[in-house]
Amino acid sequence: MCGIVAYIGSKEAYPIVVKGLKRLEYRGYDSAGVALMNGDLRVYKTKGKVSDLESAAKDADVSGTIGMGHTRWATHGEPNDANAHPHLSLSGKVSLIHNGIIENYATLKEGLEQRGHTFTSETDTEVLAHLIEDVMINSGLSLADAVRASLKQVVGAYAIVILSKDNPEHLIAARKGSPLVVGIGSEAGEYFFASDATPLAEYTKKVIYMKDGEIAIVENKEMTIKNIDNVVQVPYVHELEMNLEMLEKGGYDHFMLKEIYEQPRSIYDSYRGRFNAASGTFHMRSLEEYSEQLAQIKRLILIGCGTSWHAGLVAEYLFEDFARLPVEVEYASEFRYRNPVLFSDDLVMAISQSGETADTLAAMDLAKRKSATVFGVCNVVGSSIPRLSDAGAYTHAGPEIGVASTKAFTSQVTVLTLLALGIAKARKTMSDKEISKVMSALEEIPDKIEKALLLNDEIVKLAETYKDSRNFLYLGRGYNFPVALEGALKLKEISYIHAEGYPAAEMKHGPIALIDADMPVVVIATNSEHYEKVVSNIQEVKARKGKVIAVVSEGNTSLDKIVDHVIQVPETIDALSPLVNTIPLQLLSYHIAVMCGCNVDQPRNLAKSVTVE
Ligand code: F6R
Repeated sequence: MCGIVAYIGSKEAYPIVVKGLKRLEYRGYDSAGVALMNGDLRVYKTKGKVSDLESAAKDADVSGTIGMGHTRWATHGEPNDANAHPHLSLSGKVSLIHNGIIENYATLKEGLEQRGHTFTSETDTEVLAHLIEDVMINSGLSLADAVRASLKQVVGAYAIVILSKDNPEHLIAARKGSPLVVGIGSEAGEYFFASDATPLAEYTKKVIYMKDGEIAIVENKEMTIKNIDNVVQVPYVHELEMNLEMLEKGGYDHFMLKEIYEQPRSIYDSYRGRFNAASGTFHMRSLEEYSEQLAQIKRLILIGCGTSWHAGLVAEYLFEDFARLPVEVEYASEFRYRNPVLFSDDLVMAISQSGETADTLAAMDLAKRKSATVFGVCNVVGSSIPRLSDAGAYTHAGPEIGVASTKAFTSQVTVLTLLALGIAKARKTMSDKEISKVMSALEEIPDKIEKALLLNDEIVKLAETYKDSRNFLYLGRGYNFPVALEGALKLKEISYIHAEGYPAAEMKHGPIALIDADMPVVVIATNSEHYEKVVSNIQEVKARKGKVIAVVSEGNTSLDKIVDHVIQVPETIDALSPLVNTIPLQLLSYHIAVMCGCNVDQPRNLAKSVTVE
């Protein structure tokens, strides 16, 4: 969702800010704007893309070594020029960009209106720009103190950056609930600010992940970080593990395709150095440090949204099979508003690629308040979810730029597999030999995925055949029921074709009514104890003239005469089959979306990290 980039230093700010905004495009947005300081404060903004902003500012003065930019994903007020950020205060001297939601903006606005303020947009953000100036004028406070005093009045979430015409050497930034990363430049007094580290990677490896309630004040080439009570904080400077190559398409047409092809490597990175298959032992800090507590858990509750929730569903099977734990899988958005019964020996595991999903964060917060232990499985280092977790494990998939999650999903499943095995070991529900066997099978997965990727040409042809279908059904059983859900989600989110995932046997309880000669049904029918049952489900579809695309294990030709298309994938143990079986479904949705002329990396209405509820 909204993206923030800001720069203060000796270089021209505009190109840095615009390039940074382009790096953040993957987050999803509908308008863009910049503010630049060069004696005067100049603001340019427009509905549309960053390229539209560049066109709008083509002949304008964009000079200045202090600047900030924003991409807005509309929440309060439609996407238009007026609602785009930066917003200005009443006098036009204070400019502000904001990511998040100011929940009490209507009350604040009413108070300001009574004091003569008028507004040019429908946004909550403009209210904050006015409030800061109002506090400065009425209380005679400095800019930094007025920001602090104003933020004390704000209820909601924010990451903000502020520039002020009367403080031409200052830049102020603050966060609460929305992410903000500071990059420390190579020259004295040079700082970069961004919603995530991707715009910073080409300038610096030294970053500070700002904490909730912190305010960064840059003045006289020095940055001071204080908390909301004005106490100076000592920030931890992290080494950024991200390079430019990870942020570029590297010859692929889309980030999504690049990320699909990266999976042999990303899965390897997710487990690399974390176990020894020969001995069945682990080298995972969270498992080592918490092995006693993990052995005592009575119940596991997995929470997440979208694709991460699907990874949780795969993990339900893994934890039940391996660790013999009662497991529940919950949508974070539902869990947060229920009154769940939680105990101190429950483990709540939050799964997230971005680490910033508002619903998942709120669900974790609820679990903590109800005294459960919270474990985070997350991809983005330094994001909010790992920070809120009592313990956790990173998935190490590398930056995922395509909005549709691909490599993050398979890395989540990989790490969840290790955690299920680790808890199985702590609870003694599997022998070391059994654990070793799964580990060895996991070590073969990157090669098997490499092989599955060779199906690409075959899948292009399949996409050609079915690209005009308006509905799809995806069926799977056991470990592959969540894969069916994930296959359907991938198709609908990037090609806008309606698709549903179902447990294969549930079909006859409703969706079978939909089946006719125009309904393609993708069935995951790889070898497992359910194989024969899935074949019966296929027969049910064929009896109603549905078109069946069957994903089967390599060498299985028994369905060739029954179904319309067969995709043979390398075989692995059932528990790991979601890792391999997901690949052809990702490729199918990718190629259909491309053939339908859709914007694969930035599908309409979607945001990469959903920081609002
Ligand atoms: C689907 C997709 C979304 C995310 C969901 C949760 O391709 O990307 O469904 O999985 O918004 O996001 P994270 O994992 O960042 O919490």
